[in-house]
Amino acid sequence: MTETGPIISATNLHKTYKMGRVKVPVLRGLSVSARKGEWVAILGASGSGKSTLLHLLGGLDRPDRGHKDTAIHFEGKPLGKMSRHELDRYRATQVGFVFQFYHLLPELRVLENVTVGAMVRHGLTGFLGAKHKVNRRATELLDAFGLGHRLRHRPGELSGGERQRVAIARALINQPRLLLADEPTGNLDRKTGEAILDSLAALREKLALTVVMVTHDQHVADRADRVIRLADGVVAPEGVPGAENASP
Ligand SMILES: Nc1ncnc2c1ncn2[C@@H]1O[C@H](COP(=O)(O)OP(=O)(O)O)[C@@H](O)[C@H]1O
Ligand SMILES: [Mg+2]
Repeated sequence: MTETGPIISATNLHKTYKMGRVKVPVLRGLSVSARKGEWVAILGASGSGKSTLLHLLGGLDRPDRGHKDTAIHFEGKPLGKMSRHELDRYRATQVGFVFQFYHLLPELRVLENVTVGAMVRHGLTGFLGAKHKVNRRATELLDAFGLGHRLRHRPGELSGGERQRVAIARALINQPRLLLADEPTGNLDRKTGEAILDSLAALREKLALTVVMVTHDQHVADRADRVIRLADGVVAPEGVPGAENASP
């Protein structure tokens, strides 16, 4: 691959939660970035701040302290300086989220679970206008995941691996540039998890997608182009034992 600048970069990221009067510092000056098309894994023990980091990168939460408005850049643009509308668009169109526990809507069918992401993007009226196109794209994504025969099923009728594939299709419905995956195989057995990672690898190539995936599992992290270890709220120095002994 030719050398390109980062699509997303975070510099000196701080985040502290307040629990009553107690402050819990989670990120303490963390810097990470991913180049276009790169698959980066962030490896850290449970409670090390992996989900917190993804929420910040995805614009779901804001960093605190220091240069918080310019701590995160997407394609060179600081998230903290985006208007509310721009940030909404960023979350809806540039970023896709995948979670450990799928977060599918149990009462919706598989196809609808995927298209609902497009409804968020277009608004209801816009969605109805684009429905035919959106349904076709959702069907294509689900087909690519081998779920073409499951469109009318409900999540409760699917295996864990199938549910996660539906969740990935939902994350991709708006053709995001960046996929943020939070322990995407954490709830699956090794073999099913491997198959999900194979799917991610293939998609990434096909869609030129940048993937930032967090995990506590060294084997999962090893599938990425690059592994960043998170310890004590910062990137652990090379060669220092990090999270390989982490428990889930
Ligand atoms: N909303 C919150 N309020 C208070 N503490 C939180 C909140 N979210 C996370 N934490 C705490 O921050 C730390 C990091 O959490 P998290 O980012 O979820 O870690 P990980 O995803 O690596 O397991 C944990 O100690 C967790 O209890
Ligand atoms: Mg987490």
